[in-house]
Amino acid sequence: MQRFRQLAITVTGSVKIKLLLCCCIAFTLLALAGRSSDFMRWTKPAEQFSVPGKGYAIVVNTWKRYDLLKQSISHYSTCAGLDSIHIVWSEPNPPSESLVKYLNHILLSKSKGARQAELKFDINKEDSLNNRFKEIRDLKTDAVFSIDDDVIFPCSSVEFAFSVWQSAPDTMVGFVPRAHWVDQLEGKKDYYIYGGWWSVWWTGTYSMVLSKAAFFHKKYLSLYSNEMPASIREYTTKNRNCEDIAMSFLVANATGAPPIWVKGKIFEIGSTGISSLGGHSERRTTCVNRFVAEYGRMPLVYTSVKAVDSRHACSGDAVDSSIF
Ligand SMILES: *[C@@H]1O[C@H](CO)[C@@H](O)[C@H](O)[C@H]1NC(C)=O
Repeated sequence: MQRFRQLAITVTGSVKIKLLLCCCIAFTLLALAGRSSDFMRWTKPAEQFSVPGKGYAIVVNTWKRYDLLKQSISHYSTCAGLDSIHIVWSEPNPPSESLVKYLNHILLSKSKGARQAELKFDINKEDSLNNRFKEIRDLKTDAVFSIDDDVIFPCSSVEFAFSVWQSAPDTMVGFVPRAHWVDQLEGKKDYYIYGGWWSVWWTGTYSMVLSKAAFFHKKYLSLYSNEMPASIREYTTKNRNCEDIAMSFLVANATGAPPIWVKGKIFEIGSTGISSLGGHSERRTTCVNRFVAEYGRMPLVYTSVKAVDSRHACSGDAVDSSIF
């Protein structure tokens, strides 16, 4: 119950009515809360990270961008729910001693969690995008926060997303929504198109959240590596793309439910990822159709629900004082 007081689920639809809707829902929540008898005795939620092992593990995918990695680790070290950081290392040479020393020092000096967060390098011989979804032995938390090294989210956004994930631990909960669209062309009924950010923004509808910034249960790591058809893993390795789409398919197939998009501030600290290369959306479209063929059906499910942290949504303070 306490968790839901922090959440306002808003429906994304037309852009123009978004703000209005948001405020209406905030108003409704306030009104509902006002009717419950303990309204005047509201307290802050109990320290949700005080139980060891109940936080989340960050899994960072990185490749030869040590400055970004340092920035990223330095930032996330300060987040309260952090239990451990796993750096997915796929370079031919192991991490240098000075890098390991530097990162460990940062973690030691900044860590704020219930216990000292651990730093681990997951060293891979093969350079494959599937490395980021390898099973992690001795993982103490159920929650995995998967990120790329070039995006940073404020700790408040990360912890809000974590609390949303805790209320739906089988679901993928993330900051970067994408969609699949049915190709409108005649005679192409079963052909899909990969929809980027603008199509999601325009329609308010999505069916995937990308693993460059998403929470999911650690069980999906083992499903991805051991249960998912090997042909999908081979495809992502060979084409150096679409491991995130593959994970979205996997979770959707397992749950029959859509992911949850969480509103959060995104700071991009590097901008030379593969998504800025030409032909990106065509290659993604090819992946979607390829994976549909592998599954024998389209497992992705649409939704328009978006989780918003009501503590920071639509200047609630003004609404607050005008009601009461
Ligand atoms: C998809 O889900 C079904 C039903 O749970 C399961 O039997 C099947 O193995 C899954 N397919 C893949 C490719 O994971």
